Amino acid sequence: MSYSRSRRLFLGGTAAATAVGASGIITSSGVSAASTMPKVNFGPKAGVAKLNANENPFGPSPAALKAISEAAAQGGAYYAYPAAMTLLDMIAERHGITRKNISMSAGSSPILSYAAIAASKKGRILGPDLFWDTTSKAPEKQGAPEIVRIPNTADLSIDLDAMYAAIDDSISMVHICNPNNPTGKILDPDKLRAFCIKASKKTLVLVDEAYNEIIDDPPKHSMIPLVKAGHNVIVARTFSKIYGLAGLRVGYLIASEENTAWINNYGMAGYTLNQTGLAAAIASYNDDAFITFSKEKIVEAKGLVMDALKANGLSALPSSTNFIFVDLGKGDADLFQAAMAEKAVLIRGTYRSYTNWSRVSMGKIPDVKRYIDAIPSSLEAMYKKQNS
Ligand SMILES: Cc1ncc(COP(=O)(O)O)c(C=O)c1O
Repeated sequence: MSYSRSRRLFLGGTAAATAVGASGIITSSGVSAASTMPKVNFGPKAGVAKLNANENPFGPSPAALKAISEAAAQGGAYYAYPAAMTLLDMIAERHGITRKNISMSAGSSPILSYAAIAASKKGRILGPDLFWDTTSKAPEKQGAPEIVRIPNTADLSIDLDAMYAAIDDSISMVHICNPNNPTGKILDPDKLRAFCIKASKKTLVLVDEAYNEIIDDPPKHSMIPLVKAGHNVIVARTFSKIYGLAGLRVGYLIASEENTAWINNYGMAGYTLNQTGLAAAIASYNDDAFITFSKEKIVEAKGLVMDALKANGLSALPSSTNFIFVDLGKGDADLFQAAMAEKAVLIRGTYRSYTNWSRVSMGKIPDVKRYIDAIPSSLEAMYKKQNS
């Protein structure tokens, strides 16, 4: 059975149950489930192609949807500690580590921001010019100094040599995303490993591997073995990307026992977890068929977008992720984003001083085609505005 078909069947089942509920199903509390719920847009509004946050719109998988429903019915009234332990054990088993090496939160953002805040108490955070810096900027809001940024190379790769040279006694953490967001570029694994080993002798190294499962041969690119080998490295992972669970919020750090205990002091990571997110993550973690299916869709979408960009005289960076960083030449990414939004296609605008670079996420194929169809008129509208 194909994923889209089995998902439809499952959703059909849910719709039927909802209908029974509306006509008066009795819950365990004895209260009728007749709906008092206002209309909510849980996903993008109808007709909107949402290609701005690197989500996987094919998720949750059918197995995850089933698990969510069971978890909500059986466990919604209870704290999620046992489910959290189950997921910790699954992750620990895969990597040959223990529960104490993992710190899990509602998406990886909370635990990543606790790591940044913890590091900021000891010194400054060092990162490349372009990376997913949202969580490492968190300490700035509490008065900590800004991130020390190292220019990317001419091809927008992370300059590991320059990063290493910039580590002095004032640096308490180096933050690398691999593959990187928003560039989509991946570092050579041997070079990154060598960097992590020598840099972690001087300071803590954080490698955010949010997109690791999307690439070919994920273990080859992961720095988790360095954590196990005792280097001062922490690795972040999330269920928000390939697993298609961004709205269900599960992510985690893998680190030494000392580092997880230290970082856990800066927030209530475990208390941010919930039954449905955990259930979905547990059901998805070993669902290789769903991961393969999602990867195939990403590859298909990227092929279509790359061809279309070329046909429109544009180029893009090679992408190891589920998004593409497009070079608009002399164009302005904010104006291009606004022109796309006019056609209900949502993409990202400018990053920092990179005003001609535009990021688009791979969605369902019809949404990707809407982006492709809107490229010529959006370029035209962008240039018209720029020249007016
Ligand atoms: C590199 C990277 N890390 C982490 C995140 C945060 O994801 P989440 O909090 O949903 O785990 C994102 C989101 O886009 C990301 O691109």
